[in-house]
Amino acid sequence: MKIIVCENYNEISKEGAKIIADLLREKPDCILGLATGSTPIGMYKELIGMYEAGEISFDRVTSYNLDEYYPIAPTHEQSYRYFMNANLFDHVNIDKTKTFVPNGLTEDPEKEGAAYDAAIEAAGGVDLQVLGIGQNGHIGFNEPDDALIAGTHITSLTDNTIEANSRFFASKADVPTKAFTMGIGSIMKAKKIILLANGTNKHAAVAQMLDDKITTSCPATILKAHPDVILICDRAALNG
Ligand code: GLP
Repeated sequence: MKIIVCENYNEISKEGAKIIADLLREKPDCILGLATGSTPIGMYKELIGMYEAGEISFDRVTSYNLDEYYPIAPTHEQSYRYFMNANLFDHVNIDKTKTFVPNGLTEDPEKEGAAYDAAIEAAGGVDLQVLGIGQNGHIGFNEPDDALIAGTHITSLTDNTIEANSRFFASKADVPTKAFTMGIGSIMKAKKIILLANGTNKHAAVAQMLDDKITTSCPATILKAHPDVILICDRAALNG
């Protein structure tokens, strides 16, 4: 795993945006795997700035998001569809009909998950997957467990994740207890992965991701088995 150590959050955002911008120039019709959470917000802002400056275009891009709460309506302010529109899609020239987020209202999650993976595969696969990391080492919403699931699926959120994400909701009780997530296999199929992490609260997960073991109790450790992962982080996340 390659590591880019940054001085601060702003630099993390710029480094991440630079990698995406390079891909957009090299392959304008690329497939992006996008992530939510507070960490990539700065990177999306950088990309919006580059687009406004005429440096990049999203007009031929297709995107697939990592995860979505379940059940949740796409119009709910805390849905990941709403987040992506508000933090990126509404501000660039992406064709929204080519932006995909798992359907948080589907009545047939199993079918939806399989169809999501099949659509990614039919589109040619994700060229660049953006990831954040949970404090417990989750990627997407693949939570620590005895076994990890390969394909896109519905999962129950751990109390740790519900607690961590409750800051975005009126109360902890309002956080959905389930979510759709790309599976570990779906994520590992991406040709290239960038993982953004900042702050001491991510240090334990980052340290475990960088040790020499792969364990389902810290899902991000599987990334060691991927040939092209770049960790973009600050010193607090790296060294504690
Ligand atoms: C959320 C998301 C993840 C994200 C992580 C960290 O629950 N499902 O995709 O990477 O938790 O979020 P944050 O960047 O806000 O710390």
